[in-house]
Amino acid sequence: MKADIVIENISQLVTMEGPDRPRIKEEMKNIGLIENGIVAIAGDKIIFVGEGKIPSYIEIGKETIIIDGAGKTVTPGLVDPHTHLVHGGSRENELAMKLNGMKYLDILKAGGGILSTVKATQNASFEELYKKAEKSLNTMLEFGITTVEAKSGYGLNTETELKQLRVAKELNEKHPVDIVSTFMGAHAVPKEYKDNPEKFVEIIINDMIPKVAEERLAEFCDVFCEEGVFTVDQTRRILNAAREHGMLPKVHADEIEPLGGAELAAEVEAVSADHLVAASEAGMKMMAEKGVIADLLPATSFNLASGKFADARKMIELGVPVALSTDYNPGSSPTENLQLAMYFASLILRMTPEEVFTAVTINSACSLRKEKAIGSIRKGKKADIIIFDSPNINYIIYHFGINHVDMVVKNGKIVVEKGRKKGAF
Ligand code: NIG
Ligand code: FE
Repeated sequence: MKADIVIENISQLVTMEGPDRPRIKEEMKNIGLIENGIVAIAGDKIIFVGEGKIPSYIEIGKETIIIDGAGKTVTPGLVDPHTHLVHGGSRENELAMKLNGMKYLDILKAGGGILSTVKATQNASFEELYKKAEKSLNTMLEFGITTVEAKSGYGLNTETELKQLRVAKELNEKHPVDIVSTFMGAHAVPKEYKDNPEKFVEIIINDMIPKVAEERLAEFCDVFCEEGVFTVDQTRRILNAAREHGMLPKVHADEIEPLGGAELAAEVEAVSADHLVAASEAGMKMMAEKGVIADLLPATSFNLASGKFADARKMIELGVPVALSTDYNPGSSPTENLQLAMYFASLILRMTPEEVFTAVTINSACSLRKEKAIGSIRKGKKADIIIFDSPNINYIIYHFGINHVDMVVKNGKIVVEKGRKKGAF
């Protein structure tokens, strides 16, 4: 078999070898590390992974691109399983409010926050939303993200929710980064339904969900289950309706107040419960029993500046599989830099670099139900590979705030070189 790309002499090759399922407890420390590693790619697939020299049955031709991995760390493409990629406008106006001590939920209550992005998204054209999200996707790719989840939820009416999801769909078709869509019509209660939120829940269930399903615009459904936003009971009803239409449940759970979101996520057997800063230990135990993935978002906690962070150590100890995301959005986490979230996960959530890499590869792939195709470097899997200009994984975490990516191979093609995107897409 002829190789199109060979990466050899790799100082640290992180394969994430092991079963295609969420890794828990001590498993999160086993990243399948190979020193002096080698990877060969043909077409869009990995054809060989090993140590030392390439075996003779792999043909090297004149066109084969040989990359020297000396002094480099090579990992599976990073998977970001929680973002609000497609939206209009920005919210730097909230910075002064935040510095003056105004709380995130109070800004929302006053009609700002998510609701101000809703206005900007409703007013933006398809092309404007597309261009803005494309720019973010390029940044994400340069930071090593090869698959990203994108939620709707800044439309809050059927037409704009569909518009957001159609933008994500077209970007998925045209941009190298793979996008997995989530319908999140239950992201906030629009002003018009402030006094009758049940009416809005009805619209989500009876109008939005069937239309999203009919156009096959989303694989998942998510709800912001939070004090003053959607109750546990409303979340349950929305997620059950979505499941009936083929969308798997995810929950923004216990981000700020301990509402019982983790417990609900276990009850409805959600694929993931995200945030979990205020989650109870009982809720975490229930999640562990049901195998619900905890998708933690430390960049959000950092940026909300409340000083509170998810208890990752407790979750890992209890056997909850942990994934990590940027939560990229214009309010609580305006950053595409997953490496920064990885740094916070290590230094603040006390996750080891091995646990962090497990969380952004195989566990995050599981959180999008894509673990059969991505999340590890194994023969037959998709050739989504990152070459970091760093001699080892500890260095990537330790030297924080910068982009360590040297090269990105996406679907077997080199799309980032020297940390910059290559060509027009
Ligand atoms: O995950 N908490 C709800 N949703 C987002 C924030 C959205 C926004 O502020 O625009 C989150 O933090
Ligand atoms: Fe979010």
